[in-house]
Amino acid sequence: MNDSKKKPIGVFDSGYGGLTVLKEIVKQLPEYDYVYLGDNARAPYGTRSFETVYEYTLECVQQLFDMGCELVVLACNTASAKALRTIQQKDLPKIAPHKRVLGVIRPTTEIVGNYTKTGHVGVLGTTGTINSNSYPIEIAKFFPQLIVHQEACPMWVPLIENNEFESEGADFFIRQNLDHLLKKDTEIDTIILGCTHYPLLINKIKKLLPPNITLLSQGEIVGKSLVDYLHRHPEIEQKCSKGGNTAFFTTDSPENFDTAASIFYGKPLHSKHLAL
Ligand code: DGL
Repeated sequence: MNDSKKKPIGVFDSGYGGLTVLKEIVKQLPEYDYVYLGDNARAPYGTRSFETVYEYTLECVQQLFDMGCELVVLACNTASAKALRTIQQKDLPKIAPHKRVLGVIRPTTEIVGNYTKTGHVGVLGTTGTINSNSYPIEIAKFFPQLIVHQEACPMWVPLIENNEFESEGADFFIRQNLDHLLKKDTEIDTIILGCTHYPLLINKIKKLLPPNITLLSQGEIVGKSLVDYLHRHPEIEQKCSKGGNTAFFTTDSPENFDTAASIFYGKPLHSKHLAL
């Protein structure tokens, strides 16, 4: 394929959280170009209905397609849980049969069984992700013997978005949710951070958990899975441009985005506004 026709890989999140995934993807696949889109104007998605999350996610995927992306990663658990399957099965065949959309839940559920020794796994996520039951359903496909318990943590994203994630106030809510989860099942030895915002809380979470519990955050896992996907799908890989550039777009104010985003991305960045 002519190089000028190749396009960046799209990475989408409701807001900032997907940057924790993009950071790891770029670490593992630095040669590609990326476009990141954060729908900050309509975040958070975690408390919204199925219909709303689906509608917003599809609109953002369409925007990334319009920018030429052949492959889009939904770096958002809530969007992966509530919109991915419908987009893959119902929308793609109609709007873009040769393009692909991937999520973050499957790569995580594919490997969780390799970490647990007790066979008891915990999942932390937004209310939307937990209520969708996507994690237990997907884990059962790969590791039917595992026992899975979940806990919705509705305060965690607002604490992070409001820059309170290092405060003592955050400790209260983190402890409360971890206690609830571990009370449901004292044999849990592996916990999935099923929200792309949560890596910002990882130090606090580790301090509050018994040391024998393994925490799985998704960036590295999704990065590895994308490496593997591109190997297995040369027809998609050949359409991805390789310039080592990343462009950032937000549906809200770029000034606000740039200030907060650097905390998630680990280095300064400059975004542009995208009107939906
Ligand atoms: N980053 C999103 C996720 O992984 C959650 C943020 C939101 O509620 O919009 O689920």
